[in-house]
Amino acid sequence: MDTKIEKIRNCLLDAEKIRTAGAIIRAGGLVAFPTETVYGLGADALNACAARKIYEAKGRPSDNPLIVHIARFSDLERLSAALPSSAKRLSEAFWPGPLTIIVQKNEIVPYETTGGMDTVAVRMPNHPVALALIRESGGFVAAPSANSSGRPSPTLAGHVADDLDGRISMILDGGQVGIGIESTIIDLTEEIPTILRPGYITREMLQEVIGEVRIDPGILASDCTKKPKAPGMKYKHYAPRAELILVEGEEERVVSKINELSGQAFCDGKRVGVIGTDETCARYQAHVVISIGVRSDEEAIARRLYKVLREFDEMDIDIIYSESFATPNIGQAIMNRLLKAAGYQLIRV
Ligand code: TXA
Ligand code: MG
Repeated sequence: MDTKIEKIRNCLLDAEKIRTAGAIIRAGGLVAFPTETVYGLGADALNACAARKIYEAKGRPSDNPLIVHIARFSDLERLSAALPSSAKRLSEAFWPGPLTIIVQKNEIVPYETTGGMDTVAVRMPNHPVALALIRESGGFVAAPSANSSGRPSPTLAGHVADDLDGRISMILDGGQVGIGIESTIIDLTEEIPTILRPGYITREMLQEVIGEVRIDPGILASDCTKKPKAPGMKYKHYAPRAELILVEGEEERVVSKINELSGQAFCDGKRVGVIGTDETCARYQAHVVISIGVRSDEEAIARRLYKVLREFDEMDIDIIYSESFATPNIGQAIMNRLLKAAGYQLIRV
């Protein structure tokens, strides 16, 4: 199949292209599109065959449920007959935006979309192209991140093409995404609402709206032996082709540890990469050193994270050593993704 890439500069001027993309989805096809978090791979969420195609194109395990993207608040009620009051409060506070809520599904949502679960994940993205596409597609678009299963999520249309060219009908290219890591997921079917995946919307922000919120112990690094509740969080994820190892501790010690490890890997004949920050990059010796940004700017680090991981793939690096990051606010989501990408390999110095 030929994958058509369409640049979208303006939703009004490019309305025709978005209409064509919507027609593809309504006919059961696949279209990748930008959201504020990462690029999504869209299909009609209410069409079992279309949902199945997503798993095939991504090489995704079929027990890993998809998020249903909507563009109108009232459409949430069509997906679930048993909405808790917290669903209404959270959607009003954070939609459109990077928050996915999990509620009981009703019969219009096929099990192909929910990976066999009786619950459904729903979000309203905050991106004009995504919202326009969802409207043109009939209102309910199932969309995982538009990467091959296991690879870093795409933050540029080019990343989508690298992974899925020839497997999907169209890519809407809306430029670089704004946030760069996937939405926060909160499960509202538990007695105490539970975060299954950390993201830009933090626990504190959620607690201000609905009171007590737990974090699924399965997503915390120190508890990586526990089974996470979001099926997708148990798979190896976000991983570059090279081995990735994180080093955590006080700055001076981290720099010298990474240089020591790089030196050893170099002697073993490996091509070595380092992920540092603007503050430390000049002090590293490796084949490739990439700065992820200024340490204090968590939002910029989140935006660059997956792009940096993909850049090492293009440079045939065998092993990457990365600094670790503090975990207030969005830092928790950054470390969650980095730890998963590293297969939880972390050295404390
Ligand atoms: O920011 C995002 O959420 C992006 C953009 C495209 O919207 N989408 C995204 O989808 O990250 P995906 O499929 O890559 O990740 C969805 C996660 C998976 O870990 C999946 O297991 C979990 O959500 N999930 C979906 N439905 C669920 C459910 N009913 N119960 C528990 N976990 C669920
Ligand atoms: Mg994903």
